[in-house]
Amino acid sequence: MKLNWAERLAVNNPIRVMEQRIEISWMKRSMPLDPGGMMLEVGCGRGAAAGILLNAFQPGFLCTMDLDIRMIRMAGRYLSAEKRSRIPMYVGDAAQLPHPDETFDAVFGFGVLHHVPEWRKALSELARVLKKGGMYFIEELYPTLYQNFVTKHILLHPTENRFRSQDLREALEEAGLKVVNALEIRALGILAVVKKKH
Ligand SMILES: C[S@@+](CC[C@H](N)C(=O)[O-])C[C@H]1O[C@@H](n2cnc3c(N)ncnc32)[C@H](O)[C@@H]1O
Repeated sequence: MKLNWAERLAVNNPIRVMEQRIEISWMKRSMPLDPGGMMLEVGCGRGAAAGILLNAFQPGFLCTMDLDIRMIRMAGRYLSAEKRSRIPMYVGDAAQLPHPDETFDAVFGFGVLHHVPEWRKALSELARVLKKGGMYFIEELYPTLYQNFVTKHILLHPTENRFRSQDLREALEEAGLKVVNALEIRALGILAVVKKKH
């Protein structure tokens, strides 16, 4: 589901960029990756994380995608020309990825799954395109945060079939993904490093 004006404000600002710098630094400390890997970021928004990922993980190939063409255009403007030329971007649905099985060493998703009505399908797609032993780096929010008595009137999210901590952990397990490290506030959200099982 595409963002409404309120959520575009919430994610397209310098505080969000600082937050992502801290999160990516934690991800890297939790699971340093060999440079030169194949990497994908889903739901890239305006591309701030992609720019940070490029420096932090030094991928050989980093591709980003988003459901919303406005976000892809914004990323084209936000990133420097040098970074933009190194990061292919496309419009697509995380629940239907165009990549062959076992393509990527790492997949990143910052605040994306809770926007996807078919979030279990998206999870199985992310697992499908990861190589065995590949890593999924995830930041997610739970409904207490984005569908409480205030935020439900301001933000726009799917309302059915939402996930909380237990649902997400069970779905990761079902998709063949194992949480190896997590920072979680069970009522609010999670930052986690997840590995595709062999
Ligand atoms: C909360 S924003 C986060 C954006 C960015 N990752 C960030 O952290 O700043 C969620 C993003 O996911 C995108 N999105 C929503 N549903 C999607 C889907 N099914 N496939 C890919 N991207 C999706 C939205 O367009 C939006 O850019």
